[in-house]
This record gives sequence, C-alpha cells and structure tokens, in this order.
Amino acid sequence: MTSQTARDLFVTGLRNAHAMERQAEELMERQSERTSDYPEVQVRLRQHLEETRNQIARLDQCLEACGETASTLKDATLSFMGNLAAMGHAVAGDEILKNTFANNAFEHYEIATYKSLIALAKECGIDDGLLRQSLREEEAMAEWIDSHVEDVTLAYLSREVAETA
Ligand SMILES: [Fe+2]
Repeated sequence: MTSQTARDLFVTGLRNAHAMERQAEELMERQSERTSDYPEVQVRLRQHLEETRNQIARLDQCLEACGETASTLKDATLSFMGNLAAMGHAVAGDEILKNTFANNAFEHYEIATYKSLIALAKECGIDDGLLRQSLREEEAMAEWIDSHVEDVTLAYLSREVAETA
C-alpha cells in the first residue's frame, strides 16, 4: 500500500465521519427537544450533543492538518436524511424506544468509524490523539445507552399504563 493511498482513504474517511457527526448533531438536537418526559435521557443527550459539536471541530482540525476541508454539500444531504429519520420516529407513540435503539446502533457505527480512522492515521504517520478522544466519548455514550435500555422501556411502560388507566 502506498502512503498516498492511505492518505486518500484517511481524508475520505474524515469527510464521511464529518457528515456522520453532522447527522448525529441534527438527530440529537431534535431528540433533546422532545425528551422532556425522560429527563435523564434528555440530560445525557444534551451532554452528547455538546461532545458531538466538539467532535465535528476535531474532524475539521484533522482535515485542515491534511490540507483539506469538509464537503458541506455532502453534509447537507446526509443531515436532511437525518431529519427525515427523526421525523419518522416522531410520529410513533413509542418514539423514545425507537430512538433509543437507533441511537444505540448509531453510536456503534461511530465507534467503528473512529477505530477505522485511527488505523488509517497510524498508516499515514498522523497523530491520532483527537480521534481517540472522540472514540472514548462514543464508547461512553454507547455504554450509557446500553445500560439504560431497560430503564427507558419501563419508564415508557409506566407512562402508557398511567395514560390508559
Ligand atoms: Fe456519538
């Protein structure tokens, strides 16, 4: 593998990650507005929204270090899709459950993305400190969601029971 190939893959990976995080940002903006019935979830979503904005800034830094910029056109297309996904879930009564499952999957997608970028950064001889920082945040968020699936489900159940009583 030539180092140029590794560098090209790294830059493409950074751009894709940038679009992914923009989509995550939009999804969490919408979800954090709509989770007032689940305060613990809302607090954690707002915290991760801030982390996500920092992650976008880190990806911008990585792209700049490679002499590149993020593709705003591609970001715009993806964030539109992100909005559609959030709207789809918003119509359903069990929005909180579907969003929890979707967020769980999304965080694991992000974890894989950062692991891939870190491997490429190593091949390119580029410092991966910023990417590792983002990876740790994604792992913490994935763990938090994973450990709250039961609580969220039971909280949703008791709201439904109270509504039909
Ligand atoms: Fe994330």
